[in-house]
Amino acid sequence: SETLTILGLESSCDDTAAAVVRQTEGKPADILSSVVFGQTELHSAFGGVVPEIAARAHAEKLDGCVRDALAEAAVGLDDIDAIAVTAGPGLIGGVMSGVMCAKGLAAARGLPLVGVNHLAGHALTPRLTDGVTYPYLMLLVSGGHCQFLIARGPEDFTRLGGTIDDAPGEAFDKTARLLGLPQPGGPSVQAEAEKGDPKRFRFPRPLSDRADCNMSFSGLKTALMRMRDQIAAEKGGLTRQDRADLCAGFQDAVVDVLVKKTRRALTTYLEENPNIPTLAVAGGVAANTQIRAGLMALCTELETKFTAPPLRLCTDNAAMIAYAGLERFRAGARDGMDLTARPRWPL
Ligand code: KG4
Ligand code: ZN
Repeated sequence: SETLTILGLESSCDDTAAAVVRQTEGKPADILSSVVFGQTELHSAFGGVVPEIAARAHAEKLDGCVRDALAEAAVGLDDIDAIAVTAGPGLIGGVMSGVMCAKGLAAARGLPLVGVNHLAGHALTPRLTDGVTYPYLMLLVSGGHCQFLIARGPEDFTRLGGTIDDAPGEAFDKTARLLGLPQPGGPSVQAEAEKGDPKRFRFPRPLSDRADCNMSFSGLKTALMRMRDQIAAEKGGLTRQDRADLCAGFQDAVVDVLVKKTRRALTTYLEENPNIPTLAVAGGVAANTQIRAGLMALCTELETKFTAPPLRLCTDNAAMIAYAGLERFRAGARDGMDLTARPRWPL
């Protein structure tokens, strides 16, 4: 039984991260360290992530994150078996910073390099945190992605459907922007929604009556804008309660659509895998308490095991990249110095 120690790097969006994960074959994996340097403040004045600013910050911060991750794990580069790095999809300048840093470390130390798909990192997290076995149904919900996958292996995913336009995290972020709430929008909209009445405003549930697993979230911001402008026209502005009620109505619609479509995806998956009823959820939006509660209730009803990683492993981090790299490495995957950064890379 071989023990592997993997250093992972992540820099595909607005978090610079490095982590060390160790696993002895057949045993649960250990996160020895997971360092995340968030860039939220750098982008806050712009109302969204600015790719150029992100890329520069990644290039500046990666070395320090690697140093901290090694120190926290109490290991040196000599103890590392391979370097795993997010090679896409994401903002290309950031992905390139990470890939270049990983190549430098690999070349200097003669270490193997393993490129990791960021989405595979999220999708494999339930195996890292809960030891979930293949196959399982995965709902991946983040700022850039929303899809149902049947995970059968580290590089074997079947897509059942997903958003045809905005990702839910993007919808939360846009909602926050439209209502003057801080970014990232997910946590701030959720906090407002807790003080609001979800029944006051009725948001649309696009595509929810269709038999497939596809979703659409871009209509929610149009609806929100119309409601906001109507209140403003009637009363000259929004009160705190108006804002809270809008957030609650919006969040309710997102939860409703996600739960409805998860029911469809789960039904399809269960037809094939009746003895392995497992739903896993990951990605930044999986941090949402209402979404978790809705999915948990659905799984109780359908007698399906539900797992969601702890919040700090739902949002972007490098432990998931190190772990996905570890699984690929164990399966024999190696990348060379010709590893490229890919802005688009479907699973
Ligand atoms: O996975 P992630 O860290 O980055 C990628 O998109 O890959 O996800 C970030 C997204 C942001 O859009 C953020 O607003 C959203 O996750 N998010 C949430 C919550 N926390 C973070 N959305 C809804 N509710 C939350 N509590
Ligand atoms: Zn992500």
